Amino acid sequence: MATVSIENRDNIALVWVDNPPVNALSHSVREGLKDAMAAIANDDTIDAAVIACRGRTFIAGADIREFGAPPKAPHLTEVVQIIEDMQKPIVAAIHGTALGGGLEVALSCHYRVALSTAKIGLPEVKLGILPGAGGTQRFPRIAGVENALDAIISGRHIKAKQALSWGAVDEMVEDGLEESAMAFAASVIGKGPRRTGEMTIDGDKYDQAFFDAFRASIARKTRGYFAPERCIRCVEAAVKLPLKEGLAAERENFQECFSNPQARALQHMFFAERQVSRVPGISKDTSRRNIKKVGIIGAGTMGGGIAMNFANIGMPVTVLEVQQEALDRGLAVVRKNYEHTASKGRMTQDDVETRMALFTGTMDYADLADCDLIIEAVFETMDIKKTVFTALDKVAKPGAILASNTSYLSIDDIADVTSRPTDVLGLHFFSPANVMRLLEIVRADKTADDALATCIDLAKKIGKVGVVSGVCHGFIGNRMLSQYAREMSLSVIEGAMPHDVDKAMYDFGMAMGPMTVSDMAGLDIGYLNRKGMDRAEYETRATDWIDRVVEMDRKGLKTGAGIYDYDEGSRTPKPSETVMNVILEESAKLGIERTEKSADEIVERGMLALINEGAKILGEGIAIRASDIDIVYINGYGFPAFRGGPMHYADQMGLKAAYEKILKNAETFGPRWWEPAPLLKELAEANSSFAEYDKKQVG
Ligand code: 3HC
Ligand code: NAI
Repeated sequence: MATVSIENRDNIALVWVDNPPVNALSHSVREGLKDAMAAIANDDTIDAAVIACRGRTFIAGADIREFGAPPKAPHLTEVVQIIEDMQKPIVAAIHGTALGGGLEVALSCHYRVALSTAKIGLPEVKLGILPGAGGTQRFPRIAGVENALDAIISGRHIKAKQALSWGAVDEMVEDGLEESAMAFAASVIGKGPRRTGEMTIDGDKYDQAFFDAFRASIARKTRGYFAPERCIRCVEAAVKLPLKEGLAAERENFQECFSNPQARALQHMFFAERQVSRVPGISKDTSRRNIKKVGIIGAGTMGGGIAMNFANIGMPVTVLEVQQEALDRGLAVVRKNYEHTASKGRMTQDDVETRMALFTGTMDYADLADCDLIIEAVFETMDIKKTVFTALDKVAKPGAILASNTSYLSIDDIADVTSRPTDVLGLHFFSPANVMRLLEIVRADKTADDALATCIDLAKKIGKVGVVSGVCHGFIGNRMLSQYAREMSLSVIEGAMPHDVDKAMYDFGMAMGPMTVSDMAGLDIGYLNRKGMDRAEYETRATDWIDRVVEMDRKGLKTGAGIYDYDEGSRTPKPSETVMNVILEESAKLGIERTEKSADEIVERGMLALINEGAKILGEGIAIRASDIDIVYINGYGFPAFRGGPMHYADQMGLKAAYEKILKNAETFGPRWWEPAPLLKELAEANSSFAEYDKKQVG
């Protein structure tokens, strides 16, 4: 069936785009639009045209699936120019989202009518590219330079009302879009085309100082990203150059972005996010449980934040604690968080009260009897968890989902203390739980499909990206983290200083270096954990120097000193002479001849540790796909999205190369921690990749 068709209504042509699910600009749509414009130009009975879309949305952009293949004419740049050059007025009728190439089509139309619920945007930057069909040239002309920079650099969706105030939309309607757009077209027949490309910008207002200030304002947010600077260069070109030359500059910058590995990484992430909720055994037909009320056990660091997620979508939450004081403290922290948001103007005081009214505090398990989902977030001790789940089993209503936020413990063991293990699973939030996007959903041996499906849907509802993990020590994220942390710490004892390691990883793009992360999380947690373990179970060379630091009462940021020093009230880490001396002493004690470590060496060692463990997790079926692991690392561990996650990074490196380097590390550092993952070996030997592996996964 044709993806573009023309319906003549008296003297106005209605050009329909119909390319489900999102009317992406596939080859047939581009060709269809070009042909439609030719037909309209040649038809004397037609005086104007409306471009509208069937289905749930206006054109959502170029067809990202075609990005891998050689481009096929007509290119979008040509199509939009043909539309803009039309002599008869062309009106875009926008509903849903007009995004990327879709907005560029709308901008090449002479007028735009939008439903009030519609949104427009240029999200290309999120895919590592830039608006490449005139968006960087036409949007500043019609919406203003400041607004265009905001839209293009953030990639955010802009509501119709705001687009109207910017001049990017000419008329906003509540309903009857098609008729309104037709009426609008009829009203402008006499006026003829109004071409965005012919509009001018007051160039004097936007000098070098303006763009320098803008660059400085986004520097922190866009650190390491390639495309944002190219976007700015294009907008500068729009200000300084006539349309034709500006379009040439846009093309050149677009090509640079398109061929940069960051574009592949970010596009990988786009599809990874859309894959993640596809889980073997779960489908649209799997039944769901109704979740209307949530219980949280433990109002500490995690419990309060977890509870906020549900209150934020209007769900009542009952929070249970052992002592009134702990309960009061927990709820006070929640209130403080909301009030902080209100003080920033992101919610009103009324909203604060409305959200707080959804909270009920209790110390009585009986008050959890009407909850549909109960999440436990108490101390990380198996005995305590078992006590809690035994108590829950007695009061929870039949069919309630019972979840644990444990970071490491076996959900199978927790489930087994209840009479209803099918209702039990892990919901592993990340700190701060009201902010971090990642949620690991742990499917235990006996977890029922409908309980899992319910939590996958719920993750979306509370704005999280839910990744399903099997049961193992630390699940996907923390299990990999411990390998990475060990190798980073070994780099220190072998020759680097903590700030060298942190700088290497920060420059690689991590949100924070591993030593800074340890100080923030608190060094005492791992310390106490180790005290309960046999020294043969872990790598003492990586931890003894940290244990000495803890024993000096340097537990991290919370005690004002840890691996780093901190000035009073400051969170900025400063290298510590004391700790550096401890490190030198510990190296000497171990007979290690310290050698300099380059940033590349540090990064490679950390990445290989993640990749190897990731491959083990994948091979064991703990993670469903390699791309799920990438989602975990980017959304929960500050891994740079522009590198596509550790598994995509491995694919970029080549699995054969990664495997050989791991074998080499086994020789250099000893085989104990560098046993290559069987799956990595298999894929490397088959000259395959994690992406290929993922394609074969069902779900
Ligand atoms: N190309 C190809 N497929 C696309 C697509 C696109 N631009 N946008 C969405 N899809 C696919 C998704 O992969 C998904 O497929 P699946 O069902 O097989 O997984 C399906 O459409 C539905 O997408 P969502 O699940 O994301 O549906 P939502 O309703 O949640 O969201 C949306 C709809 C807001 C349109 C969202 O899909 C989106 O943001 N899409 C990307 C928009 C975008 O980035 N456009 C710019 C493209 S680059 C460009 O235009 C370059 C130009 O400047 C030259
Ligand atoms: P926390 O120590 O801040 O809070 C635990 C709370 O549970 C305390 O307020 C305590 O009074 C309460 N509590 C203890 N026993 C209880 C019981 N029997 N009944 C009711 N309440 C009880 O601990 P935190 O950091 O919130 O951790 C909770 C859980 O979340 C742990 O399993 C932890 O591993 C996990 N987790 C922690 C993360 C973090 O960054 N802190 C991240 C992800 C998971």
